[in-house]
Amino acid sequence: MRAHEAGALHGNDAAPTWLPYPSDVNTLIDGLWSRTTRRGADGAVEVGGVDVRRIAEEVGTPAFVLDEDDFRHRARRFRDAFAEAFRPHAGSDVYYAGKAFLCGAVARWVEEDGLGLDVCTGGELAVALRAGFPPARIALHGNNKSDAEVRRALEAGVGRLVVDSLDEIDQVDRIAADLGLRAAVMLRVTTGVEAHTHEFIATAHEDQKFGLSLTGGAAFEAVRRVLEAPHLDLVGLHSHIGSQIFDTGGFEVAARRVLDLVAQVRDELGHTIAHLDLGGGFGVMYNTQHTPATPEALASGIAGIVEKQCHELELEVPHVAFEPGRAIAGPSTQTLYTVGTVKDVRLGGPHHRVYVSVDGGMSDNVRTALYDADYSCLLSGRVSSEPPEVVRVVGKHCESGDIVVKDEYLPADTRRGDLLSVPVTGAYCYSLASNYNHVPRPPVIAVKGGEIRTLIRRETEDDLLGLDVG
Ligand code: LLP
Repeated sequence: MRAHEAGALHGNDAAPTWLPYPSDVNTLIDGLWSRTTRRGADGAVEVGGVDVRRIAEEVGTPAFVLDEDDFRHRARRFRDAFAEAFRPHAGSDVYYAGKAFLCGAVARWVEEDGLGLDVCTGGELAVALRAGFPPARIALHGNNKSDAEVRRALEAGVGRLVVDSLDEIDQVDRIAADLGLRAAVMLRVTTGVEAHTHEFIATAHEDQKFGLSLTGGAAFEAVRRVLEAPHLDLVGLHSHIGSQIFDTGGFEVAARRVLDLVAQVRDELGHTIAHLDLGGGFGVMYNTQHTPATPEALASGIAGIVEKQCHELELEVPHVAFEPGRAIAGPSTQTLYTVGTVKDVRLGGPHHRVYVSVDGGMSDNVRTALYDADYSCLLSGRVSSEPPEVVRVVGKHCESGDIVVKDEYLPADTRRGDLLSVPVTGAYCYSLASNYNHVPRPPVIAVKGGEIRTLIRRETEDDLLGLDVG
């Protein structure tokens, strides 16, 4: 992976081969925009019945604009698709992975829509509990939980702790004993499968910090220890193979390996493992290169895989859980920016690149710099009849790798004051946001039925200065 976008990409001003030349640069590409996004009467984009120009005026930019209907529709669709696919068996649960994006309102929607919630730190747990999320429907993850986090989860009555190491078995048992209760735990096993998009590599990805390895026998040893621990109840096994996955191939290998362990535990320890959690990782469309499977196709594909493996191993199909984060939150949100400086940079010979600067950047979306992600964007405050031109959208940070959209076609008259929307920023953008260069974090607003509701307010300079107590 490249460490520095600007360095690695320097000098190549051609559009990447995957980026189609738009027949109309004003078009909202199908699948990229949340379900209520459309162009209004005079061409400006509206979402949730709210014109982006009104958002800019009332809320300011940059702002994360979350389409509430879209988020909730996706959450329910995952819930229903998996429920349907596993109905003939012991059923399924969908836990929304809060690391993608979490705030009180989102926790309440997830609760109302009948999903569970996956949290991975005390901070995420605090948001969920304050929102009144039922603790029994929360799963606590984390590869290095503190005593305080474990204690808080157990005191609150969190439904399951996903234990990540042999060491943590002792830690949770000790704290449960101290509180005079029993802790329901799952064991996170590493299957040696790490899937990203269309490829997955077996065994090579044992070399990472998460989970208990199947190959070294640590996972089996962990099951044995949990079964012996006086204050632990073994709920089941957990496996998460990666993120931004488009098909079920990686799940096939992972499910087989986890179910092999279920069979081994039955045969050697005489214990039935009744729950399996296959994690999250379902991919989304960030640009026209991506073709994610529908929740229904994923659910029936994975159900088929699990049924087949269970049949071969003569196991009952366990109750199965999933933890989608990105696929629920990602497409629900667009980031609304205002264009500032537009600079045509000569690269030598006939080459040049147009840099369109916006009023945010890597502090609100670090995924381009961190993961080499390819985002798309659109002028959203108006339509233009100028021809498309490839541009690079950059932020206001003091760093040349501060790129939001590496390559996209915008109209040639894109200029200071234009509103620009970047779609599919609902997952791992606000949650990875920083105050780099003392830039206050943008607000997250929900739009629905023509109303704007602030979910997370804009950070202010006073917020930042308030931390500086030295
Ligand atoms: N469950 C577990 C145990 C996880 O570790 C994760 C993500 C999920 C569920 C949710 O995965 P999702 O459905 O959202 O792909 N910051 C990175 C992604 C990190 C994912 C970490 N774990 C990014 O922006 O691409």
